[in-house]
Amino acid sequence: MSQDNIKFAYWVPNVSGGLVVSKIEQRTSWDIDYNRKLAQIAERAGFEYALSQIRFTAGYGAQNQHESVTISHALLAATEKLKVIAAILPGPWSPVLAAKQLATIDQFTNGRVAVNIVSGWFKGEFRAIGEPWLDHDERYRRSEEFIQALKGIWTQDNFSFHGDFYRFHHYTLNPKPLQQPHPEIFQGGSSRAARDMASRVSDWYFTNGNTVEGIKAQVDDIRAKAAINGHSVKIGVNAFVIARETEAQAHAVLQEIIAKADPEAVNGFGGEAKNAGASSPEGEGNWAKSTFEDLVQYNDGFKTNLIGTPQQIAERIVALKAVGVDLVLSGFLHFHEEVEYFGRKVLPLVRELEREALAAKSPALV
Ligand SMILES: Cc1cc2nc3c(=O)[nH]c(=O)nc-3n(C[C@H](O)[C@H](O)[C@H](O)COP(=O)(O)O)c2cc1C
Repeated sequence: MSQDNIKFAYWVPNVSGGLVVSKIEQRTSWDIDYNRKLAQIAERAGFEYALSQIRFTAGYGAQNQHESVTISHALLAATEKLKVIAAILPGPWSPVLAAKQLATIDQFTNGRVAVNIVSGWFKGEFRAIGEPWLDHDERYRRSEEFIQALKGIWTQDNFSFHGDFYRFHHYTLNPKPLQQPHPEIFQGGSSRAARDMASRVSDWYFTNGNTVEGIKAQVDDIRAKAAINGHSVKIGVNAFVIARETEAQAHAVLQEIIAKADPEAVNGFGGEAKNAGASSPEGEGNWAKSTFEDLVQYNDGFKTNLIGTPQQIAERIVALKAVGVDLVLSGFLHFHEEVEYFGRKVLPLVRELEREALAAKSPALV
């Protein structure tokens, strides 16, 4: 098990409807004032990262969406320590625009921006914005070139690159980002193409919620391939957290979320998402095996089972760490109050369990 503390990120609710496709009453809002306050609560609570979402059209009932890079900058401006990960979709963005935008934000925010390269799953969205829809693995080939170009622009002068999707001729970006060698590069997706890309170029691999066994299989695959490539990659896992004083209370909230699910929105999303998950040649992409209930949290966050008392949740987080997870990406129902509660009740227990695990392994280190 890693000697580093496991890290925590939260999903920025920059799309309307919160993190669940359900009509349950929730106090989460997608507006900027709510999000600024949330970012401040989260950094005080011990969260190191926030991840914003990129979406151009309504999917799963997320009728309104604030753009990811823009809101990420606004949240960085409202905080002091938090790192904010902006999501970028190759296609609408070119690597040169992304590199320039993010370098400027990095300069303005004392080196706290990061990027999540998403490869696209929603064909209807691409059609709506006039963006050609590439095959699943072609989308990843483009994303990999995008990441290579980003790194090249951020770290080299006179950068040249001749790919199938992007070309550069002696390009020098000034100023470069503050962070050295460059802002951290995350990616999202679980298919074989996603894992292969992570094992070659990304700093972080983000995956949907899953069981400990499901996560372990992915971690083992990526780390084995990364070792062959001489690359090192960290792992982040999605989870929808429902922490309550008793297990029964936590499960009652889960049941209410599912009972109040919006079937039309869940099934509409499920059709697109399943098509995306199954469309990878090996059929192992996100959502390939998701049930109706899983899809009510649109990144399979219930599957990770961080639902119960603070003690149960802390133990499950440490079990994820034991199979190689470096970061938990968490969603909540009522973000303000639950992020604060997580920081106060769950996080100290995680740190205690980490100290105990370290002491059991090497007493001299504690
Ligand atoms: C943590 C995480 C965050 C993601 N964020 C976005 C996003 O903001 N916008 C988007 O269009 N897709 C997003 N995705 C979707 C992925 O980029 C990818 O298109 C999808 O997971 C299907 O990939 P796969 O077939 O490799 O599993 C995200 C995925 C994960 C795991």
